Amino acid sequence: MLLVMKVLGIETSCDETAAAVVEDGSRLLSNVVASSMDLHAQYGGVVPEIAARSHIEAILPVIHQALDDASCTWDDIDAIAVTYGAGLGGSLLIGVLTARTLAIAHNKPLYAVNHVMGHVYANFLTATSLPGFTMPAGAPEFPMLAIIVSGGHSQLALFRGHFDYDLLGRTQDDAIGEAFDKVAKIIGLPYPGGPNVSKAALSGDPQAFPLPKAKVGKYDFSFSGLKTAVLRLAQAEIGEDYNFPSTKLPERLNDAQKNDIAASFQRVAIETIVDKARLAFDEFAPRSVVIAGGVAANQELRRQLTEALPLPIEFPDLKLCTDNGAMIATLGCFHVLTGQPVADPYALDIAPNLSM
Ligand code: KG4
Ligand code: ZN
Repeated sequence: MLLVMKVLGIETSCDETAAAVVEDGSRLLSNVVASSMDLHAQYGGVVPEIAARSHIEAILPVIHQALDDASCTWDDIDAIAVTYGAGLGGSLLIGVLTARTLAIAHNKPLYAVNHVMGHVYANFLTATSLPGFTMPAGAPEFPMLAIIVSGGHSQLALFRGHFDYDLLGRTQDDAIGEAFDKVAKIIGLPYPGGPNVSKAALSGDPQAFPLPKAKVGKYDFSFSGLKTAVLRLAQAEIGEDYNFPSTKLPERLNDAQKNDIAASFQRVAIETIVDKARLAFDEFAPRSVVIAGGVAANQELRRQLTEALPLPIEFPDLKLCTDNGAMIATLGCFHVLTGQPVADPYALDIAPNLSM
């Protein structure tokens, strides 16, 4: 039986400044996200310096809002959890330095949380009285197969318990989210690419073009070949060869061509993930399967997985798939509950290249 415990989670690894309060690793009390995405859109991707400056401006108001929304004062908070990696150095620094300062000022234990693992832990949130959230009926059971698909990571992990997992495989080059973002650029859709590609795909024919699936290790992924195949396909569609500049493609492709490219790319990219998830399911017979990371918001992924796997899958609320503080607070709760070491608030450093 859990004690009542409230953890404040702080997340600033990319362009979202986020904070949330989670109780007992399962109940979401608040979830505040300020995004600087609009400022990056004109550049077609996240500009690290702009992201860091936006974090500085937003972080304290976001944290105070998260405490207010949860009807908490500092006295109610048992621990602070902060993302210390992976992510952009300048962005991580703002969250980590803020968390360190607050931990010292309010005398709270500080926990250093892995961002990618945080995405997985969004699946442990099962209750909230906040409006607009659809929560799963129960927490995932172990062994748990985690399909991690974000802008920076594509990997399969088998969790036998909390903090006890094997990485089955990972991408050898681009992450799947990155591939979505690059394909968006090729067909002229604005940043962030993922949601826009999947929107365009709704009006396209997923079978319009055959695209290759990379042959890599059993549970590994590779998306750079698929991205290049999309580029060559777009060039061929307008009757040009590989010398044609990719920046000029959007103005030459018509909407039907763009939608068909988006739909065909999405089908193959998602199939790649689902094929391997099915393999892992057959080999390891997990009791639960969860999806994690920004691409977990993708409806085609949800549809294909539901079709491919013989067990019901509980999908996280869309708002908990992209970067947020709730997942960090949730994982922070499990750091506390399983007695993971606390971080030194005078010394905790960032780890931009942290992996699982
Ligand atoms: O997890 P996340 O918010 O940030 C990282 O930790 O990387 O993932 C962001 C990625 C981006 O590449 C974005 O294009 C992708 O997730 N994404 C999607 C969708 N929503 C976000 N990709 C495909 N379909 C979506 N609906
Ligand atoms: Zn993320």
